[in-house]
Amino acid sequence: MKALICYGTRYGATKGTSEEIAKILLEENFDVKVVNAQEEKIKDVAEYDLVVVGSGVACGRWINESEDFLKKFRKDLENKKLALFVSSVGPIYAKEGNIEEVAKMRKIGLDDRVMKYGLKPVSLGFFGGIIDFNRMGFLTRKGMEVAFKPLLQKHGFKESAPDAYDLRDWDEIRNWAKELAKKARG
Ligand SMILES: Cc1cc2nc3c(=O)[nH]c(=O)nc-3n(C[C@H](O)[C@H](O)[C@H](O)COP(=O)(O)O)c2cc1C
Repeated sequence: MKALICYGTRYGATKGTSEEIAKILLEENFDVKVVNAQEEKIKDVAEYDLVVVGSGVACGRWINESEDFLKKFRKDLENKKLALFVSSVGPIYAKEGNIEEVAKMRKIGLDDRVMKYGLKPVSLGFFGGIIDFNRMGFLTRKGMEVAFKPLLQKHGFKESAPDAYDLRDWDEIRNWAKELAKKARG
């Protein structure tokens, strides 16, 4: 089976997650193409059986190019096995036990896109992203530090580099990709 993974990223989390999903799908004997939607425009999805679309979320919005891909291929995706995933700060709120906020973020990141484009995905992935304070502008950094630093420290998230936190749970991502492989075949 042939799979396309099309993603958009700002801080790199969605790229790494896409590559890990690709690795698992390859192990599951899929032929996989990974595309950064910001660098390459896909013209046609006809050859793919499975299409995975990923995006980082910032201020409740998808990366434009990932969203454009959904918009452009919404009709073609009706006949494909489709999966969507996002990279977000969800894991911080999950550790905090803030179920309402997690549900809200899932809805904004995933369910709203499904509704908006009338999609029928076989799987939705809600994964952690990267909080890299070094790569934010002054005001964004100040705001994000106030909002998230105490929570990151409280819940024992370890710095992946000075002032950067990687919220991705690789086992969760790999298990999701394995399940997706099964669903795509089924
Ligand atoms: C300015 C800014 C706004 C953000 N807004 C959100 C948000 O609304 N919801 C969310 O879940 N995560 C938010 N995040 C966290 C990102 O989702 C996280 O950084 C993720 O890694 C982005 O994906 P990417 O690394 O592929 O770009 C925000 C991060 C920044 C820096």
